[in-house]
Amino acid sequence: MNKKTIRDVNVRGKRVLVRVDFNVPLKDGAITDDIRIRAALPTINYLLEKGAALILCSHLGRAKGKVVPELKMDPVATRLSELLGRPVKKMDDCIGPVVEDAAAALQPGEVILLENTRFHAEETANDPGFAKQVAGLADIFVNDAFGAAHRAHATTVGVADYLPAVAGFLMEKELEFLGKATSDPEHPYVAILGGAKISDKIGVIESLLSKCDRLLIGGGMANTFFKAMGFEVGDSLVEDDAVATAKTLLEKAGSQLVLPVDAVVADAFDNEANAKVVAPNEVTPGWRILDIGPKTVQTFESALGGAKTVIWNGPMGVFEMPNFAKGTFAVAETLAKLDAITVIGGGDSAAAVKQAGLAEKMSHVSTGGGASLEFLEGKTLPGVAALADK
Ligand code: 3PG
Repeated sequence: MNKKTIRDVNVRGKRVLVRVDFNVPLKDGAITDDIRIRAALPTINYLLEKGAALILCSHLGRAKGKVVPELKMDPVATRLSELLGRPVKKMDDCIGPVVEDAAAALQPGEVILLENTRFHAEETANDPGFAKQVAGLADIFVNDAFGAAHRAHATTVGVADYLPAVAGFLMEKELEFLGKATSDPEHPYVAILGGAKISDKIGVIESLLSKCDRLLIGGGMANTFFKAMGFEVGDSLVEDDAVATAKTLLEKAGSQLVLPVDAVVADAFDNEANAKVVAPNEVTPGWRILDIGPKTVQTFESALGGAKTVIWNGPMGVFEMPNFAKGTFAVAETLAKLDAITVIGGGDSAAAVKQAGLAEKMSHVSTGGGASLEFLEGKTLPGVAALADK
């Protein structure tokens, strides 16, 4: 990686501002998945061992510049403190005299967590005055928030104008795995895309088609390709606006693009709905595609045979419903058995791999959803660009 990391700076006795992505899912005030907090621990522990005092900050949800009580960082501070085995003081703001005093009094080995950065509209606006105030709390800036690196916000980009800015270990790991898979993959290189929409993945499809040997498409986005092939897809989700693009992609990609050969259809969007397996051109009104079928699982398995690099982003069906999770889990199982570098894009596919109990079997499960997609698309992530070059 051509960016400086925490190994390249001396943090002893310094106050270090660490931008993390602690945007964790919450239900009734409780964290339902703490993977993003755990993923930042190597950086946090390393900095503490090296004698730094830490000022952590993150967004949580989309607060849109207002204080939203349900999006306060308190549950995150509690969980982090449990995981670190040391106190984590949660501040009530991320700027202002109280925070400044706390930061100034911070001793090596101590940790404070600032309040949700998005309680200030200046965060998403990348306001220089706000960035300067946050940066003023510390001597060095560490960005470990890969999941937010596609956002040009004050605490991902702006603060780097005022402090030496380096990457944390999670940022480094994400960039290494995703970077290798996109710029120097060992072949055969197979990409798998799923999820509901193709409209937000057209750039990724084009970029992957220029690099991979095969691109397997499942999930709701396959429906738009079926429509482009002239199939009626019943009540399935289809993006009519993207049918023409899907047609162009089909013509351009030819046999490089592998589509489902059968589908599990249901007569309602419900786990208990009546379901059957049909060919993609046999979906009748009143039925909708909710998963790939067993023949597709086999087709995808052979397309993945011998692969040396695999990238997967987006589930094959509505895996949140157990009756329509088989396709997604089967793909996860196939990947787990491969002797290949397997990289799972964040968001839903990461959740699916975790639910299947196979996360440990993958080479890398990204903590970034949108960030990993933009990276795969070949875009420069502003949060990465802002870091000091080696
Ligand atoms: C994510 O969950 O993908 C990141 O934390 C970024 O969140 P955002 O989409 O609200 O900017």
